[in-house]
Amino acid sequence: EFSKEIDSIIGLMTLEEKIGQLNLPSSGDITTGLAQSTGIAKKIEEGKVGGLFNIKSIEKIKAAQKLAVEKSRLKIPLLFGMDVIHGYETTFPIPLGLSCTWDMDLIKKTAQVAAREASAQGINWTFSPMVDISRDPRWGRVSEGSGEDAFLGSQIAKAMVEGYQGENLTDNNTILSCVKHFALYGAAEAGRDYNTVDMSRIRMYNEYLPPYKAAVDAGVGSVMASFNEIDGIPATGNKWLLTEVLRNQWGFNGFVVTDYTGINEMIDHGMGNLQTSSALALTAGVDMDMVGEGFLTTLKKSVEEGKISVEQIDTAVKRILKAKYKLGLFEDPYKYCDEKRSQTEVFTVENRKFARQVAAQSLVLLKNDKNILPLKKEGTIAVVGPLASTNENMAGTWSVATNQKKSISFLEGIKTVAGEKANILYAKGSNVDYDIDFEKRATMFGKEISRDNKTDKQLKEEALALAKKSDVVIAVLGETAEMSGESSSRTNIQIPQAQKDLLQALLKTGKPVVLVLFTGRPLDLNEESNTVPAILNVWFPGSEAGIAIADVLFGDVNPSGKLSATFPRSIGQIPIFYNHKNTGRPLRNNKGEFEKFRSNYLDERNEPLYPFGFGLSYTTFDYNNLKLSAEAIGKNEALKISIDVTNSGNYDGKEVVQLYIRDMEGSVTRPVKELKGFQKVEIKKGETKTVTFELTPQDLKFYNSQLDFVVEPGEFQVFVGGNSNAELTDTFKYQ
Ligand code: IFM
Repeated sequence: EFSKEIDSIIGLMTLEEKIGQLNLPSSGDITTGLAQSTGIAKKIEEGKVGGLFNIKSIEKIKAAQKLAVEKSRLKIPLLFGMDVIHGYETTFPIPLGLSCTWDMDLIKKTAQVAAREASAQGINWTFSPMVDISRDPRWGRVSEGSGEDAFLGSQIAKAMVEGYQGENLTDNNTILSCVKHFALYGAAEAGRDYNTVDMSRIRMYNEYLPPYKAAVDAGVGSVMASFNEIDGIPATGNKWLLTEVLRNQWGFNGFVVTDYTGINEMIDHGMGNLQTSSALALTAGVDMDMVGEGFLTTLKKSVEEGKISVEQIDTAVKRILKAKYKLGLFEDPYKYCDEKRSQTEVFTVENRKFARQVAAQSLVLLKNDKNILPLKKEGTIAVVGPLASTNENMAGTWSVATNQKKSISFLEGIKTVAGEKANILYAKGSNVDYDIDFEKRATMFGKEISRDNKTDKQLKEEALALAKKSDVVIAVLGETAEMSGESSSRTNIQIPQAQKDLLQALLKTGKPVVLVLFTGRPLDLNEESNTVPAILNVWFPGSEAGIAIADVLFGDVNPSGKLSATFPRSIGQIPIFYNHKNTGRPLRNNKGEFEKFRSNYLDERNEPLYPFGFGLSYTTFDYNNLKLSAEAIGKNEALKISIDVTNSGNYDGKEVVQLYIRDMEGSVTRPVKELKGFQKVEIKKGETKTVTFELTPQDLKFYNSQLDFVVEPGEFQVFVGGNSNAELTDTFKYQ
């Protein structure tokens, strides 16, 4: 595709111009105004820039593109990338929250909307989806992924790539997608960001690589290498990963970009100086160098010294040019810079309405004793907590294009939805209580949520006085946006202590308390789960946060979110995930009783606090009549599994019906459960729906010790239910 055109351009290019196409510099000086951007502007004119990223301004993008197509010798247009991670200006829930919708159409549509908005303002490439599986909530970037499961993660990866790239990349409202961070970034040791990863190949292939592969299978145009090492070689310089697996085994034919200064960081990894690292990266399969300019400053020398060949550089240049052709940039370099679209297609009423729906679907109801929720839109409601009245904490991490001030705070949202009969009172109650010293935090992140002038005691007393004169208390607590995301690992994953103290004091008033919990990771909620009657986990719901949370609290929307990551009982259980192995010494009891010489803890039970797939509704669902179409299936046969799901409660609702299997015997050990299917169904109260799944031998395959993808004959157990503790079960054989 486009090979004739590309070859003819390559024929005209000097070595410097070729290397220039591989350069993705930091566009900081352009974002602060082209007049000051002498460095980058000059480089663009000299043909030393292939693209820029994270510029939010159609004027600046146009100006930079103008330099490329009018002032550079070969007039090659630039790519404009951005971290459009969970929406552009209209911001959707953080990816971890979005994954809890388990709704692929919805997720795909969020990517479509994001692509439409971003492309209306000059962006043609997004650094999304982030598909890193993680089983360690200490890692701050769990917020950016789809949780712990490779099957769910793969479906989401596909939906997002298809959403961004659409049917046709040349359309002006679709953008190039970049799956990241390849690979295994979510398995950083001890959950500390950028830390070492060391993993067996069989675990990689079965449990961590599938979502990246799903993105490749869906036609993703680019891949971002991760910061971590794999088998002792940083991903950025890992030829096995970037060429053998990605291109030879999976057939990827787009381009690979580094994550930021990934090449320069190879020096600290201990791989050699910048020239050596740059040559290693190119040889491994990196095509574009983000920010660090190792390629720009050393590749020519490496060619002259015979360390790399011009053909290697040509290969990378061809991949970049191909992406530009595919996007239609050679035909019209300004096709994504349409003033009219920029005015009319961004942060529209329609997009915000959709974001409100999506946000409500992402909330997970963890506890609802005595049906405290939904609340009535009447009486006196005390809203308490440091996260309740701010609009600058709603979008969560990586919301580069969001206008934080336009997000709807919890307080604004609840006042709008509650209507006139309810009397809403507000008190802050406590400071946030950050993990790091407040002043240090403020210089690093800005003072979004400032420390109050009042003392902690005064704040708490005000809140308690308010609680006492109210019918119900809503405590809006948890993490701020900066407490998760990149470089925000925590060793203590509880609600910050000042807020925990406030919560316990509120409970002592004897008033019913509802906890609305903001978080970018599964938290240790052991204390809260024992003491607070209702917990609604809201993640960071995006620009329509407040109003969407209120929709759920008052029952205008029945919650249907299901966890995509396990909530531990204590930090000591981490890593904890549902699809673990059985071991040779599994527990014989499931009552949490300690058993000597078996795999368990002296001081904690094995099960999590809230399992993968878990989430309550205001109604109840009963599962009956599990039926399998056969006792055994053969090579070209499929098994049908059906189940009757009855809405036995008082509200219409949506349920995510989940199908798990266990391969009872294999040439390698197999997990105790694996998700193999799910369907989100809407069931009216009193109604029963029959949900049917199909399993084929393909679905039973796994990578064996030779890394062959195989299905082995034997017995399989099937489980169906509303979370990973699904108990309805039957067996079948593959023969
Ligand atoms: O896309 C991001 C990546 O996830 C983390 N490092 C910086 C990149 C570009 O902003």
